[in-house]
Amino acid sequence: MLPNRFALSCSLMISITLTVGCSRKVAEPSAAELADQQKPSRRVTLKEVQPIFSRNCIACHNPSGMDTGVPLGNLILLEGQAADGLINVHSIESPLVRVFPGSLSKSYLYYKLHGTFASVGGVGSKMPLGGTLSPDDLALIDDWILSGAPLQ
Ligand code: HEC
Repeated sequence: MLPNRFALSCSLMISITLTVGCSRKVAEPSAAELADQQKPSRRVTLKEVQPIFSRNCIACHNPSGMDTGVPLGNLILLEGQAADGLINVHSIESPLVRVFPGSLSKSYLYYKLHGTFASVGGVGSKMPLGGTLSPDDLALIDDWILSGAPLQ
């Protein structure tokens, strides 16, 4: 009897291992990975995105905003300075860069605006702090990143 039971529990363990192993292999890609597979609906430039930053972000993300001692990530989003603050610049809150041209899943800005920053080791609040972006504004910024973050 004993060898049989042993064989039974062995095959049970093997099938559990196989099931777990296989289900891991077919795991769903994350939302950001799926988003990366998308092409932008059209090519979007920073020139088009800047008005969104100017309306929703620069009240805080400006040089004097940082003088208040609030840790704004040393990020200035004023016209003419946003590219230098965002593109290929390391985030201070996460291991990612703020904008990785062409990739949403590697861009911390994407997670901050969609509220999913905790999934990539980020901290703090969803941006814009104290406000919201319209779905159209969000889509435009996503398309800008997917377009390769061109200036114009
Ligand atoms: C009311 C003030 C305020 C507004 C408005 C605001 N932010 Fe912020 N932002 C902060 C503060 C404070 C932090 C740091 C704490 C946190 O992440 O919650 C921050 C952090 C960030 C970071 C992380 C920087 C890093 O290096 O990790 C990004 C990216 C960011 N903001 C983008 C934006 C964008 C884009 C907008 C506009 C759509 C915006 N913020 C609007 C106050 C603001």
